[in-house]
Amino acid sequence: MKTIIEPFRIKVVEPLRMTTPEERERLLREAAFNVFNLRSRDVLIDLLTDSGTGAMSSLQWAGIMQGDESYAGAESFYRFRDRMQELTGFTHILPTHQGRASERILFELVGGQGKVIPNNNHFDTTRANIEHSGAEAVDLVVDQARDPRARHPFKGNMDVGKLEDLICRVGRERIPLCMVTVTNNAGGGQPVSLENLKAVRAVCDRHGIPLFLDACRFAENAYFIKRREPGQLHRSVREIVRDMFALADGATISAKKDGLVNIGGVLLLKDQELAQRADALLILTEGFVTYGGLAGRDLEAMAQGFEEVVHEDYLAYRIRSVEYLGEKLLALGYEIVEPPGGHAIYVNAGALCPHIPAPQFPGQALVCALYRGGGIRACEIGSVFAGSREPAGMELVRLAIPRRVYTQSHIDYVVEVCAELFERRRSFRGLRMVNAPPVLRHFTARFEEVLS
Ligand code: F0G
Repeated sequence: MKTIIEPFRIKVVEPLRMTTPEERERLLREAAFNVFNLRSRDVLIDLLTDSGTGAMSSLQWAGIMQGDESYAGAESFYRFRDRMQELTGFTHILPTHQGRASERILFELVGGQGKVIPNNNHFDTTRANIEHSGAEAVDLVVDQARDPRARHPFKGNMDVGKLEDLICRVGRERIPLCMVTVTNNAGGGQPVSLENLKAVRAVCDRHGIPLFLDACRFAENAYFIKRREPGQLHRSVREIVRDMFALADGATISAKKDGLVNIGGVLLLKDQELAQRADALLILTEGFVTYGGLAGRDLEAMAQGFEEVVHEDYLAYRIRSVEYLGEKLLALGYEIVEPPGGHAIYVNAGALCPHIPAPQFPGQALVCALYRGGGIRACEIGSVFAGSREPAGMELVRLAIPRRVYTQSHIDYVVEVCAELFERRRSFRGLRMVNAPPVLRHFTARFEEVLS
């Protein structure tokens, strides 16, 4: 088979700024060893997140010029609504400014003291919004997800036995809805099978509990279903996407991922009464129902992005380019979450640096080494990220790949830097957190290096 190439050519370029190792050493110290404090001009390859960092297409930029900026009833809203309806089958479609705005509206309506919300793994903003409402967020992912090297094809699946147990234990009336995150970001970007979604749906139906998707990366999930689930290979991604949404009573979506835009979100609802209450909250805090905190041009870009993301040559390139990085890192001797996820490679920094104990943050040590070694910015998803809430199960570093931004030679450069770092891994130093806020501390924590 031939190389799966980037299915686009480049019309606009944005220069990258090279830095010297001495410069990066100084900048890292000024940033208190927290790469969130770096300025992006000082980063060469930015793998901090795949959220809102993608490149738009020429048709999306053309859509920007067509944006209808009317307060109510803008043409751009109807183009966006029709595209979402065609894609998902939902008819009540609310635009929001990003995923967490959809989450806040939903959990203000259904959350609250005493309520319990299950998910395969809650993403941190979802968990934070649930807890902010007074409710409890529970993770019920399958056990295979805990073993980074277990090559299960659908490590994002929810354990339906655990879901039954939870319903038995807390009672159906305390569970306003069950969520499933596709793909499971907090669990390594791993997909959920159609079979599992159907099984979760069956449990929910038996107990009269609505099923919601956190569908930020729905297209990547659908492509994995096509490639890995028996009997799905001959079907189109569009059909699989329709099947996924048909199993749900609602969805929260951050369009900054599979919407292929830099800002935007969606809230989908089936229940008419809930939808009316969501409309009222949207108007109160985001904007009128036909723009929801966005400009008309943003709705145009989303309408086009949600079309392009289900193109199968795009998805083949997308999933293959992430897998390519994963294969190279494995060949170098890195332990990663296997198989590679849809949007990122998660490196097991605990296994890489056994000389650094978890309280000295081996993941953060690798993040610092990546920046020092090659100007690469990555994100710790281990003990820094977990916060004081609970000890992290794994000390991971996420290399998230922005959509349509970097070419294969950028990724080859990342691999070369990683090869050098692997040889020097025993020289990485642990860190001490010297200043940390009580919640979401990874964004602003300050560190010092442990010298001995
Ligand atoms: N749900 C999932 C699964 C996510 O990955 C994110 C964002 C959100 C909800 C919230 O969406 O940022 O638009 O408000 N994830 C980004 C990341 C931030 O880096 O993984 P948002």
